[in-house]
Amino acid sequence: MNAQSDRDELRSAAKIDLAAVELDYEGFRALAANPNLSPHEKIGFPDTYREGFEPAILADICAKLPALTEAEGLTVVDIGPGCAALPRMIVDLCRDRRHRLVLVDSPEMLAQLPDVDGVTVKQPGLFPRNAAEVRAAAAAPVDALICYSVLHYIYVDSNLFDFVDATVGLLAAGGRALVGDIPNVSKRRRFFATETGQAFHRRFTGSSEPYRVDWGEPSPGKIDDGVLSGLMQRAQGAGCDAYLLPQPPGLPMANRRDDLLIVKP
Ligand SMILES: C[S@@+](CC[C@H](N)C(=O)[O-])C[C@H]1O[C@@H](n2cnc3c(N)ncnc32)[C@H](O)[C@@H]1O
Repeated sequence: MNAQSDRDELRSAAKIDLAAVELDYEGFRALAANPNLSPHEKIGFPDTYREGFEPAILADICAKLPALTEAEGLTVVDIGPGCAALPRMIVDLCRDRRHRLVLVDSPEMLAQLPDVDGVTVKQPGLFPRNAAEVRAAAAAPVDALICYSVLHYIYVDSNLFDFVDATVGLLAAGGRALVGDIPNVSKRRRFFATETGQAFHRRFTGSSEPYRVDWGEPSPGKIDDGVLSGLMQRAQGAGCDAYLLPQPPGLPMANRRDDLLIVKP
């Protein structure tokens, strides 16, 4: 199969094995246009991975970006909001707090999100390539930037140092960027090397086969501790503080994902 026929299948198939597809920005555009998929499936998640978890995810985002609920009239950017429940909750929060919210995703994803006068601004395109347009759409330095469950896809299409440079360049003094829900293959290995991890694997697969931890093997295309340390140092070198934070244990993939918080002093 070539890339075009893969995309055609993502755009129209009645059922897609989301665990088996390699997604990038164009793949998500195709999923977004597929009328047979639920909103969670359009953003690459089987329903069971996300359904019902969004309030806890939003609470964690607000804990790490407290200005979202403590201040009013902020400039907020959401990179890769998708089209499921989470961005709708973020739109509601921004309307309640009178924040201006710039939503950055493909035109196909953005078309499925509400337009709220005086609140939402939709900026189509692939970030960080469209960073200049995002800056113009924001029209002010950004107080809170959310990029949740997206960095591993940006890694497929772009240079992650460009992503950090563009993100830092958008932030206001005192502004924060939460790059959340990053699959970290090193953390995944550490977890599955434990008996807790092996028991989790047995429960998830229903099989007694042990999970083989691939220590020391290359992980092309995957984010690991080294990539994350590099991104933190890049942000620090550009004058920001940077922290790697855990997710609350109740979130669906907390045992193998990390959150990166960038704070401009
Ligand atoms: C897994 S979904 C996450 C959606 C949402 N943030 C959430 O957690 O519910 C990834 C989203 O990022 C978008 N995306 C992927 N790469 C992107 C890029 N380089 N720039 C902007 N959006 C991107 C996809 O179109 C998709 O909507």
